[in-house]
Amino acid sequence: MRSLLFAANWKMHIGPSEARAFFATFLRSHTAQPNREVWFFPPAVSIEAVATAVRERSDLRAGAQDIHWEPKGAFTGAISGPLAAQAGARATLVGHSERRHVFGETYEQTGKKVAAAVRAGLHPVLCVGETLAQREAGETLTVVTRQLDAALGASVQADVTIAYEPVWAIGTGRNATPQDAADVHRAIRTWLTDRKARTIRILYGGSVTTKNAAELLAERELDGVLVGGASLDPSGWLELVRTTAA
Ligand code: PGA
Repeated sequence: MRSLLFAANWKMHIGPSEARAFFATFLRSHTAQPNREVWFFPPAVSIEAVATAVRERSDLRAGAQDIHWEPKGAFTGAISGPLAAQAGARATLVGHSERRHVFGETYEQTGKKVAAAVRAGLHPVLCVGETLAQREAGETLTVVTRQLDAALGASVQADVTIAYEPVWAIGTGRNATPQDAADVHRAIRTWLTDRKARTIRILYGGSVTTKNAAELLAERELDGVLVGGASLDPSGWLELVRTTAA
């Protein structure tokens, strides 16, 4: 059975002292639940604070939001897989839509980053998803398949998680309907099954809140959620990670 994963993407919020304050509240109320994990993707400067806060809990994990594909070198402003791992990360996002669309990350780079994450012992959470123009042009499944092919290749070698995040739903307050999400999740599951990787977890992300999480989680192929805005406040996040499928 695939366990449920609630992943918090803090983006460019929550520094080290704020992260410690967050966990003082969160850990007081959140005890480990069977078949349920909670992962945190703080900004790089806060990875160590998060990793330290969760180190005694096997259900909680710290991760990086992005890594460079090289292990070290003259890449000002970037962090590598080994550096993130040294700070305590055990996972990394790859190909988040803000990396693709704001920073111009290419399909080829996401492939190099997945491989670099695996080399560094980080579990990659690969983000895929279409823009509104691509959805309206009926290209959703083509785009998502192309992103999967580019990042994971013909055979899925890595222990990865896939997050389907339609670009038009991220930070907009407009979440995909469970039906929209289900169509794409089914296509991703078929892609994985064809590569003998059926057990890989598939998340949904994009304007997930305490109000819509239960309905989304009821969808059969969904194994969890990747949450930005609604993960920043510890009391709201506590409520969200306790959600059960509607
Ligand atoms: P959001 O962000 O929940 O604020 O829409 C999700 C994400 O970008 O991972």
